[in-house]
Amino acid sequence: MGKNEAMKKLEEKIKTCRKCPLGELRTNAVPGSGSYGAKIMFVGEAPGYWEDQKGLPFVGRAGKVLDELLAGIGLKREEVYITNVVKCRPPNNRDPTEEEINACSPYLDKQIDIIRPKIIVPLGRHSMTYILKKFSFEPEPISKIHGKIFEARTLFGKIIIMPMYHPAVALYKPQLREELEKDFKKLKETLENLS
Ligand code: SF4
Ligand code: URA
Repeated sequence: MGKNEAMKKLEEKIKTCRKCPLGELRTNAVPGSGSYGAKIMFVGEAPGYWEDQKGLPFVGRAGKVLDELLAGIGLKREEVYITNVVKCRPPNNRDPTEEEINACSPYLDKQIDIIRPKIIVPLGRHSMTYILKKFSFEPEPISKIHGKIFEARTLFGKIIIMPMYHPAVALYKPQLREELEKDFKKLKETLENLS
């Protein structure tokens, strides 16, 4: 099965999934969007209000920040792949529970297997924790490890993991927006230096 077919099948499965209680509460599941051939995969936490309305990731205020950060390094969202650890919106945007993360994360694992990105960028503490543990690294406070590079070995080659602050923090903390801009510059250099 090719990448396109495999991803389309998986997206259809996510859209009708009822593996955890969030499936009953959502308007739309949000599988992810972007290029299946992307070198960079961004992983947020869970859909919010607008994402649930539209069925697309990062289309609210945090999404606007993400678009600006991407534009700042000459990338369009169509060139990357954007998804979340949890695919349905938790009520009132609460944090997803461990049970919900356990039920949903196999979809993210499968997306990583199909897309085979060169770089994964976890956005925010929850996504960073999931991705680092998945690749056997120790999570640390996001204030300490944002912008650091982790190299994971997989069956299909090396993956670079670069955790960053969640773009939503830039909305109320201008210093963190600067940190995000610095980390995006480093992301661009890392992308350019890929072997
Ligand atoms: Fe299924 Fe994930 Fe939605 Fe739960 S959050 S119903 S596991 S797609
Ligand atoms: N915040 C997230 O973590 N993901 C989205 O898709 C939107 C906002």
